[in-house]
Amino acid sequence: MNTKKKLTIPEIAAWDGTKRKLRMLTAYDYPSARIIDQTDIELILVGDSLGMVVLGYPTTLPVTLDDMIRHTQAVVRGAPGTLVVADLPFLSYQTSPEAAVANAGRLIKETGADAVKLEGGAHFADTVRALVRAGIPVMGHLGLTPQNAVQLGGFKVQARTAPAARRLLADAQALVAAGIFALVLESIPMEVARRVTELVPVPTIGIGAGPYCDGQVLVWHDVLGLYDRFVPKFAKQYARLGEQIREAIQAFAQEVAAGTFPAAEHCFQMPAAEWEKFKESGGG
Ligand code: KIV
Repeated sequence: MNTKKKLTIPEIAAWDGTKRKLRMLTAYDYPSARIIDQTDIELILVGDSLGMVVLGYPTTLPVTLDDMIRHTQAVVRGAPGTLVVADLPFLSYQTSPEAAVANAGRLIKETGADAVKLEGGAHFADTVRALVRAGIPVMGHLGLTPQNAVQLGGFKVQARTAPAARRLLADAQALVAAGIFALVLESIPMEVARRVTELVPVPTIGIGAGPYCDGQVLVWHDVLGLYDRFVPKFAKQYARLGEQIREAIQAFAQEVAAGTFPAAEHCFQMPAAEWEKFKESGGG
């Protein structure tokens, strides 16, 4: 029986990270969501990082709304006690607030997710306002926004100059005024993250943004050592499951080749009398 109590959006919006940090982890399927639901993690993000760590694309851009819906459905089924936020994929909200409401509406209605996340600053304030007016809670995302990685010149640290830091702060304030309940800060200097955290009333959740945010988020595959194409500097691998999985699969391959798997304990046997009957009736 699941005894974890799911937090509400107002509880997250009022979170004070100086008392206790929020913890968010990405998940993309039912078994990983079930595991997270049995821990103290407060939020699951079905990130569009799905495109890179699960679907094998080089960026998040090819991820479709249908991809996000299918994976979010599985996560929601696995995590009844954890608040689930689903990413709005590239071009599902950038064209107009109306398109954003229609697409975010599908994501919420067809999956049961609690909220959506979108990347971008003041430019998307009207879109955030339209979503919130429609009853859809929105998490913001500033700093390194992977959907704009090409425009940003790659997956690079952002807000490293005074004007860029000022712009990021203004973006954060515009998103807060539009109604976001929390804000992801990705790959920015920790001093900038600290200032934004002090100045905005909603919790900041950092990834590559230092220790002063109200919470931290990491990607499932980075935490568990499952993605060897690229490990960001800010990610900590708490396990190296990729290596363990490779060893386990190689052991299976070797045992099948050697004829030592399956052993007697893995096999089913027919009752002796039935076997005799089968042979008599021409089966053996
Ligand atoms: O898509 C994702 O996983 C994200 C996190 C890196 C915050 O947006």
